[in-house]
Amino acid sequence: MTTQAASPVVHTAPSGTRRVAVIGAGAAGLCAARHLLARGVAVVVYELGSQVGGLWVYNNDSGLSPAYASLHLNSEARVTAYQDFPFPEGGPLYPDHRQVHQYLASYADTFGVTPHIRFRSRVADISPQAAGRWRVTLADGASDDFDAVVVGTGHQGSPAHPDWRADFQGEYLHAHSYRVPEPFRDKRVLVVGVGNSAVDIAADICVVAQSTFISARSPVLMMPRMLFGVPTSRVLARLEKSWMPWPLRRTIRETLTRIVHGRMEQWGFVTPKSRTHPTSHPSLMSHFVWDRIKAKPGIDSVQGKEVRFVDGSRETFDTVIAATGYHVDLPFLAPALRPLDGHRLDLFLRVIHPKCPSLYFVGMFNVAGGGNIRMMDDQAQWVTELVTGAMAPPDEATIRAAMAAEQAFLRKHYPAAPRYALELDPVFYRGQLAREHQRARQRRPALATVMSAPLPSSKQGN
Ligand SMILES: Cc1cc2nc3c(=O)[nH]c(=O)nc-3n(C[C@H](O)[C@H](O)[C@H](O)COP(=O)(O)OP(=O)(O)OC[C@H]3O[C@@H](n4cnc5c(N)ncnc54)[C@H](O)[C@@H]3O)c2cc1C
Ligand SMILES: NC(=O)c1ccc[n+]([C@@H]2O[C@H](COP(=O)([O-])OP(=O)(O)OC[C@H]3O[C@@H](n4cnc5c(N)ncnc54)[C@H](OP(=O)(O)O)[C@@H]3O)[C@@H](O)[C@H]2O)c1
Repeated sequence: MTTQAASPVVHTAPSGTRRVAVIGAGAAGLCAARHLLARGVAVVVYELGSQVGGLWVYNNDSGLSPAYASLHLNSEARVTAYQDFPFPEGGPLYPDHRQVHQYLASYADTFGVTPHIRFRSRVADISPQAAGRWRVTLADGASDDFDAVVVGTGHQGSPAHPDWRADFQGEYLHAHSYRVPEPFRDKRVLVVGVGNSAVDIAADICVVAQSTFISARSPVLMMPRMLFGVPTSRVLARLEKSWMPWPLRRTIRETLTRIVHGRMEQWGFVTPKSRTHPTSHPSLMSHFVWDRIKAKPGIDSVQGKEVRFVDGSRETFDTVIAATGYHVDLPFLAPALRPLDGHRLDLFLRVIHPKCPSLYFVGMFNVAGGGNIRMMDDQAQWVTELVTGAMAPPDEATIRAAMAAEQAFLRKHYPAAPRYALELDPVFYRGQLAREHQRARQRRPALATVMSAPLPSSKQGN
């Protein structure tokens, strides 16, 4: 793969410029740093591991990446890429983890972010100081003060385990630890969950395992990856219009899926009646056709190596792989400051901490169709406007009202499961962001005065 821009950008911030700490050098942290640096902000990126790319780094020494050997993007490269940095021309529709890693490393080099990253630096604590500033303390005890902090630590590093985990007496692992199929050769394997991790892993291991079952406790629409020779997402983009109510879109999706895969029920799944997070795989349903994978409903109980399902059927397994999702983990924030409500992150438009307007989050969502990385770019540009004072955040009452409206939207459209706590509808969200941008520009004069006040000196240079 080649780098898209001619020569890397070099950033040197004059003394007295605003200083921002970015935590994490994954897709989110990199684009936050890139946009801030481009506007003359002094940035330090703290990264736990020794490479950029976060979860796209296979066997990342951060210990946080769930990447397995067969992992590919499941959103098409061209809709996933940052706004002005496409994946290299002539590459695959769905690059693999090495290509995404290279893409992110190339982005960091091209936009001059790499020299600002401090690798092998775990942020252990961030504490608010006077005048909205923050003290960032590393695990080795070093600390530094900043005008703002951007959290880009991801939300797929901390596995969520099912509560029957200890009851299973065979081999148990979470999808986060899965890498290659070979260890499961000739074993009877149950993959729990029917998200994208579950379908990737089931399709991987069924080729070598003695038997592979997948347990879906909730309905799922297994959409075909390609239609008419192009990604299904492109077909949907042409067919679905923003004015269409969800039931009509659901009918379109169900019809397209039925043409290719038939009814979900014929394979042992249940067709959803509400919106669900998109699940698709290029070969999963072929394995059903070959009887390499069978579906089971949810789990009723587990005893020894036997699993009893809610339909009363029982099977014995050597291995259970729980592809049961992740928890949001913010260990560096004092519990009282964590904007967490269960799995939900209470933030203004998924970015601003309601009580700490100089604490920002980028990438804490799951886009319901489309690319997460592209949406992080939108957030990072907004954060840059806020940090530089070009836009101002609203007051706390407005923030609370907006958060309530967003929660009402999620409750109305999605199942009430932890999996949907971070779901983000790209059309609804982009509309909200656009309206907020308009309002924020009108609020700007008051804030611009505050932001241009002289800054206290910091302990370390950048
Ligand atoms: C298996 C899988 C496949 C996916 N596929 C797609 C896809 O096809 N398309 C798509 O758009 N999205 C996909 N996603 C969603 C994913 O959110 C994004 O692709 C994106 O790469 C996540 O970037 P991030 O920077 O938010 O998080 P991460 O990539 O997790 O990066 C966070 C970084 O923060 C660092 N860090 C964490 N804690 C600390 C700390 N205390 N101190 C210092 N550094 C710290 C970590 O080491 C890491 O480098 C996928 C997710 C998973 C789990
Ligand atoms: N190739 C790719 O690009 C790729 C691969 C993997 C993941 N991803 C992305 O990464 C994110 C995480 O995906 P994920 O599949 O790991 O997690 P996920 O989307 O949260 O799915 C978790 C699955 O496990 C089920 N589940 C959760 N807790 C359970 C329990 N206690 N018992 C039984 N079932 C349980 C959920 O069912 P309910 O719906 O009933 O809660 C759901 O089917 C998603 O955004 C996904 O799109 C992408």
